[in-house]
Amino acid sequence: MSVSDAVMFDAWTRVLTLSRLERGQMVTVLTSVDTHPQTLSTAMAAARALGATVNRLELPPVNGERSLSRDPLAYVGTTPLTGNHAAMAALKASDLVIDLMLLLFSPEQHEILQSGTKILLAVEPPEILARLVPSEEDRARVLTAAGRLRAAGTMHVTSTSGTDLHCALGDYPLLKEYGFVDEPGRWDHWPSGFVATWPNEGQTEGRIVLDRGDILLPMKTYVQEPVELVVERGYVTRIDGGLDADLLNDYMQAFGDPESYAISHIGWGLQPRARWSVLGLYDRERTIGMDARAFAGNFLFSLGPNTEAGGGRDTPCHIDIPMRRCSVSLDGVEVVRNGALVEEEVTA
Ligand SMILES: [Fe+2]
Repeated sequence: MSVSDAVMFDAWTRVLTLSRLERGQMVTVLTSVDTHPQTLSTAMAAARALGATVNRLELPPVNGERSLSRDPLAYVGTTPLTGNHAAMAALKASDLVIDLMLLLFSPEQHEILQSGTKILLAVEPPEILARLVPSEEDRARVLTAAGRLRAAGTMHVTSTSGTDLHCALGDYPLLKEYGFVDEPGRWDHWPSGFVATWPNEGQTEGRIVLDRGDILLPMKTYVQEPVELVVERGYVTRIDGGLDADLLNDYMQAFGDPESYAISHIGWGLQPRARWSVLGLYDRERTIGMDARAFAGNFLFSLGPNTEAGGGRDTPCHIDIPMRRCSVSLDGVEVVRNGALVEEEVTA
């Protein structure tokens, strides 16, 4: 169902206010051919109404001829900013970049952030943005969980379907996504609501058994029958099962890159307003699946790059897999039990 411009203008005003946009600041809206026109027009109007100077920078798409999918997260690493010094100068001179294109996983994104510029990514369709406008409560919940994760040396994930995964932690930073950018040099994604980190290199062992209803991204499908992933020394070494396993194997083999099979970010969903069921209501090209990544109590793990965390694994293949009904423990203390947030975790 569509939303009105007035609702979107109000949503942007709330997000930009939470992001501490101030009168006289420079905002650059980064766009591509896939940018939603209502998201663009209301973002620019709201930023202008708050007193900012607003620019728009449209960049041509890249990697379409290499990717098997139209999903913007299906082929990562290089962006239209690669080698584009003129565009980089404009973005680094901005106080805030509103990314309606999708810069994720690029070294250029790091360079822009290091200049103190904030980046807020927003590519879900307007009605999803409007439904999941972030709040201070979202920030508090994510930061509380992040405190627990930062203090942990191990993560253990289990499920009744047979998942039994051990990850050593501590070498990489945390990803704290709550949906707005309230500090210089901060990146975030509206909508979101989860916490994650990357396991120490080569120190994830065990197996992950995807159950019926778990989600494969960027395929944007619900798994229909169990898929077993064997994990040895930080890499998935076998993917077994039925049709879902065959589809995942074929897709990943197309990249021809052993680094695609590394365990990437691991964490759990914290957004009670994001719903597991939403992916079943959308055409696959109309969403990137943020409800799936953020629904409260999921275990979200990823395969592929760790450049986002400052690591050296730069592979274009990026798979996110949100799972239901897992239990997640940090140093032996549960933060998620059978797919539900443990109460102490929320209120600590
Ligand atoms: Fe991911």
